[in-house]
Amino acid sequence: MTRSDLFPSVLQASHLPAMQAHLLRLSDTDRVQRFAQPASDEVILAYLRRLNFQRDAHYGVWENAGLLPQLVGLTHLAVDPKLGLAEIGVSVDAGYRRQGLAGQMLERAILHARNLGIVEVVMYFLPYNTELVELARRLGMRLSVGHGDGIARLQPGEANLDSLSREWLADWQDSTQRSLHNWAGEVRNASSSLSQLLHKGTDQRD
Ligand SMILES: CC(C)(COP(=O)(O)OP(=O)(O)OC[C@H]1O[C@@H](n2cnc3c(N)ncnc32)[C@H](O)[C@@H]1OP(=O)(O)O)[C@@H](O)C(=O)NCCC(=O)NCCS
Repeated sequence: MTRSDLFPSVLQASHLPAMQAHLLRLSDTDRVQRFAQPASDEVILAYLRRLNFQRDAHYGVWENAGLLPQLVGLTHLAVDPKLGLAEIGVSVDAGYRRQGLAGQMLERAILHARNLGIVEVVMYFLPYNTELVELARRLGMRLSVGHGDGIARLQPGEANLDSLSREWLADWQDSTQRSLHNWAGEVRNASSSLSQLLHKGTDQRD
């Protein structure tokens, strides 16, 4: 991720409104590819209501160009601790693709799965989803296509000191970047309020 106005973060339940806004912006085609079925607004809202933030992990990429950061990428790592399996779903806003955002979120999700002791990570895709096929290949996932859908699989390997410290470092970088962006946002808000006040003062004197 090279653009300085884009920053990644782990998502919490408090980010649900931004997650909802991102998913509702997806086109019908993107929704079919993301959820492997046509997904109306109601289907998306029901999906969001079912999310489990204690068990699963969610990663996002924010754009901080305006007054409020906007979530432009979202990845869900759904964990089945009993079976040692996890399933990934990913989406990126249409205007932000081919900048490595999905790749970066997926690497992060796979690293987390590894550190949780997950044996296999899977990602379902529709066979004509060439973007996803390329992306999964790049991540070293094994692809197989069955009747109507495809599945990409990866064994993340065993956790070790290196994988644990890489995740710790990524979490730390997230929180540092988030603080910097929050601070920059507050400075921007303060300077816009100040310039409004100054304009008001000038108008009253005229
Ligand atoms: C699939 C999707 C998540 C990819 O997001 P992205 O941020 O554009 O992906 P990245 O930029 O990380 O792409 C990484 C690599 O994947 C491949 N790739 C991505 N989009 C591609 C495209 N349109 N054509 C060919 N290859 C593509 C490339 O190898 C790319 O690397 P490169 O840009 O250096 O060539 C995005 O297209 C999307 O949201 N689609 C709708 C939802 C969906 O299909 N979800 C997947 C099922 S869960």
